[in-house]
Amino acid sequence: MCGIAGYIGPKGADSVLVVALERLKYRGYDSAGLAVLNDGEIHLRRAAGKLKNLAELISAQPLEGHCGIAHTRWATHGAPTEANCHPHVDQGGTVAVVHNGIIENHEHLRRELQAGGVVFQSETDTEVIPQLIGQLYAAGPTKGDALGSLRAAIARLDGSFAFAVLFVDLPNRIFAVRKGSPLLIGMGKTYGADGQIDPVTERVTKHRRREMLLASDVPALLPHATKVCYLDDGQIAELTDQGVNLWTFGGVPVEAQFKVIEMTAEAVTKGSFDSFMAKEIAEQPAVLARLLESRLRGGDLVEPEVGIDLKTVSHVVFLAAGTSWHAAMLGKRFLEQLARIHVEVDISSEYRYRNPVASGNTLVVAISQSGETADTLAGLRLARAKFIPVIGLVNVVTSTIARESNGVLPLLAGPEIGVASTKAYTAQVLALYLFALQVAKAKGLLSSAAEQHAIVSARGLPELVARTLRQAEEAVGEAADIFSSAQATVFLGRGGEHPTALEGALKLKEIAYVHAVGYPAGEFKHGPIALVSPHLPVVCICPHDQMYEKMLSNLQEVRARAGRIISVGLASDQALRDLSDHLFPIESATEELLQPILSILPLQRYAYQVAMRRDCDVDQPRNLAKSVTVE
Ligand code: G6P
Repeated sequence: MCGIAGYIGPKGADSVLVVALERLKYRGYDSAGLAVLNDGEIHLRRAAGKLKNLAELISAQPLEGHCGIAHTRWATHGAPTEANCHPHVDQGGTVAVVHNGIIENHEHLRRELQAGGVVFQSETDTEVIPQLIGQLYAAGPTKGDALGSLRAAIARLDGSFAFAVLFVDLPNRIFAVRKGSPLLIGMGKTYGADGQIDPVTERVTKHRRREMLLASDVPALLPHATKVCYLDDGQIAELTDQGVNLWTFGGVPVEAQFKVIEMTAEAVTKGSFDSFMAKEIAEQPAVLARLLESRLRGGDLVEPEVGIDLKTVSHVVFLAAGTSWHAAMLGKRFLEQLARIHVEVDISSEYRYRNPVASGNTLVVAISQSGETADTLAGLRLARAKFIPVIGLVNVVTSTIARESNGVLPLLAGPEIGVASTKAYTAQVLALYLFALQVAKAKGLLSSAAEQHAIVSARGLPELVARTLRQAEEAVGEAADIFSSAQATVFLGRGGEHPTALEGALKLKEIAYVHAVGYPAGEFKHGPIALVSPHLPVVCICPHDQMYEKMLSNLQEVRARAGRIISVGLASDQALRDLSDHLFPIESATEELLQPILSILPLQRYAYQVAMRRDCDVDQPRNLAKSVTVE
């Protein structure tokens, strides 16, 4: 959570940093701020609330200067007030810090610093960092030694963090530290040359310089940076207008490895859509087609190298959180049915605090869109400490989970910016289906006829997704008009549609703030049926699958109690239509295992339409963040 950015270069740092924060706001958006170094002074601008408040403040009071750091916050310690906004500055006004993560021993450090006369300005855990560095830089053995002060401060900090530091007396210099939270260095163009006029600043320059950037994620480096270097845990970076120097926390120099950035700035803009969420829902046919293209060649399944002999695997544990956990539930169905192996689906924050049994043939699959979810990462590390191999199923292939896994299965969904996961979810489900086929094949359980059927079914999916999105829209809008003021909504599904029910409910909760629960429909009579009233919409997911008749019985139970029924089913299903107040039409998948990819689509749009009618900000729902890098 929280996003960090930094800039050194010919452009005005404030305007570059505001755009960078815009790209990072999925990580937190309850307050934002920046610090720019100019003429030997640190200048701050900070504002509580959404980023537009900071942008307005900056356009009213712009900052001069070409070197700065910035932050968008998701509050952990201290309310989202201006005083708690980053950057935080030490008492002497010597250093400014932006921070992502949690300093676990902050209370102890705060008391110690207070006893030495430091007066704190905020309630944050972060403020101990600048206060500590400021003291170490002002006096004692590390006096005037920026790197030495940083190393001495880091040695006192517990927890997981990434932070960036400006020193008031070090122009064109940003220090950055990573221990547990992601941090990237971007390299832009060189500019200026001896005695020539710099085309950007229009000043005569003395030497060639380089535009350098810092961020928690790649989109925030665009469009200025062309290359990126990922800091590893335990590294300190010094960015200057000449490039970057890296050291380990122990002070050993490290060579920076830069790679070309392949993402484009267009991929991280909304284009003609009202929101990222709307754009990402609409992108699903293309996303699934891209994933299939990478995994199918003609009539054959391409088996990506995952660094593990899959035929020896007899037990799979899925680790995931949020939407990824729902995808994992479908992964279990796929693996059980196709590869006949025992599968557990574990919520990462539970797995990491148990003492899970590690048998010789266990494989852990960590599923995470961002690849940075702290609990999933901790689960991965626990598994690896027990010598269990891990495959990371991630969208961000440069993420920590991808880098720490034995093998990686990429989703290729492109940047997902909307907080509520949509295209990454359907890509996860399809990727898990393809993975189950791969395991089944490795175990000799996939006949060539079954493989052909699976491939033909998968290939037809993008077109079915496109058609479902088109045909469901009208019915979704009508139901949203009627039910947007409902206090609660229940979602019911069986078999493969149970995860769809959970995911449909999560979407509605996340972005429309409607209390919603998803239930396996067989459990309906064991509790939730008591909620049924003429005011309660009950969403029943009823494609023509093996559970269809059972679902119809659930619909009858709701109808008998005067509940309101929204069903998700085939447009041609008259029996279902007759039982429902509203029917969201979906296409039928050739392979039943893939049907949930189609069933979720109208529910994504329904949550979106309800949120719009309730004036909610779908891309930045309150209290949430896209990438949860704290516990
Ligand atoms: C947060 C997001 C959810 C997401 C979950 C897991 O809670 O708001 O949308 O599903 O994290 O994220 P991951 O990146 O690990 O899939």
